[in-house]
Order: sequence, then C-alpha cells, then structure tokens
Amino acid sequence: MRTQTFERIGHQVEHLKTIDSTNNYLKQKALLGAPHGLVVVADEQTGGRGRLGRNFQSPKGKGLYFSVLLRPCVPATQITALTPWAAVAVCRGLETLTGLRPDIKWINDIQLKRKKLCGILTEADIAPDGTLNHVILGIGLNVAQTDSDFTPEVAAIATSLARHLPQPPSREELLAVLLAELERMWEDLPEKQEEYLAAYRARCITVGRDVTVISPQGARPGFARKLNKDFSLLVEFPDGTAETIGSGEVSVRNMD
Ligand code: BTN
Repeated sequence: MRTQTFERIGHQVEHLKTIDSTNNYLKQKALLGAPHGLVVVADEQTGGRGRLGRNFQSPKGKGLYFSVLLRPCVPATQITALTPWAAVAVCRGLETLTGLRPDIKWINDIQLKRKKLCGILTEADIAPDGTLNHVILGIGLNVAQTDSDFTPEVAAIATSLARHLPQPPSREELLAVLLAELERMWEDLPEKQEEYLAAYRARCITVGRDVTVISPQGARPGFARKLNKDFSLLVEFPDGTAETIGSGEVSVRNMD
C-alpha cells in the first residue's frame, strides 16, 4: 500500500513499562507528526481497550501489547479491510513461529480452540474532508497468562500461547515475527486482497454457524450465511429476513 513516508513497519520501536493504552499513547505521537511505521509496545496496560468500548485485560509481563502507526495514501473509505487483513497477518506469523493454527472469529478476534488468544483494535483519524490522517493498529496477544491473570469472566473465554505450548516464544520473538508479517501485508495490499480474503475465509469460524448479533437494539439469534468481499457478514434471521452486518456497532457471538 502506498504510504505518506517510506519507513518500514517497526523501523522504530518504543518500549514502555506501563501505559494506559498503547493506542492512546501512539495517537498522541501521531498528532505530533510521528512517521508511518512507528511501533509502541508496553509491558502492561492499565486501560487496554477493545472494540465497542470493551476493556482488554493486559497484565504486566504476560502478553504482547503493541500499536503500529500507519499513514496510508488512500481515501478513508478504503481502510475498512485493515482489521481483517491484519488478522490474517497475525495468524500467519503465529503459525510460522509456533506451528499452531489459529482461527478467526469475525471480525477481529484470533482464537485457539474457540477461546480468544488475540484481539485487534484499529482506530482511524479522519479529517473533516474525508482524508485519512492516520490509522493506529493495536494488537493484544495473550502469551503467558494463566487463568488467575484474568478476571473469572475473561478466564472463561480467553486463552494464551502458554496453554498450548510447553514453552511459548518470548514477546520479543513474537513482536519481530508479527511486525515482519504486517510489513509483508502492507507491501501485498491492495494488489493481493483476493488472497487475503481467501485466507480470512479459510480461517473464519463464524460463517456457517448459529450466531447472536448484539447491537444497541439488543441481541438477536441468527445464522451467519456468508462473508462478503468487503468482510461484512450476511446474517439470516428466523423470521426470514437477512442483514448485512458491518463491524461498526455490532458484535457477533458464536453459539457453540
Ligand atoms: C478487542 O479485543 O476488541 C481488541 C483488543 C485490542 C487490544 C490491543 S492491546 C494494544 C492496543 N492498545 C489497546 O488499548 N488496545 C490494543
């Protein structure tokens, strides 16, 4: 993808011991003119954020919490696929390094055996005229957590690499591999978007299953029929209607 500057993703990595959220921190840097490809990684986040205003638990030294500043030269409308493309890149990196084969739960969760291993939060800064100022791609990967590192509610739905491997890779190794995959993704797109779509579809465990669609209007059971080319989800409801769900305000929970 064409970029406003030519730096590689991760040409500069800033390490922090503790911060509320690496996305918040990097946003401040972006507003002050930081370049494309700057990465911020923290040992701990005290206010880690997920999609739809959710909290992302980020205990000290247990996970890989980082954000990447991107400055694409494209209209803001063309950036909605960034989260799913990044999900593919993260899965590829994890698979290369660990041999594990993660799945994707629409739209931004990476899972192992139906439990959340990693979440992606993409936040764009768009000028009033629709120009894209910058995008921050935040990635939180559970590496060494045990159940006691999470609240009981999160422990029930989360997992970590340590639960699937005798010795998980270090956070440094993981960061290096994931940044290399994200750089590859950046070079590949948009030319290889069909390939990324196919890779996403191959890993997406949401399609072809019963789901609950949760929106500000409430929760509705449905069936996820198809993933569209723009990564929206076609969901059918028991009353015979169908809706195309974008990532905006809606989350989809798998029923199994
Ligand atoms: C989600 O689960 O909905 C997305 C979670 C994203 C978490 C990462 S950790 C690094 C970055 N900083 C944040 O506050 N969030 C993202």
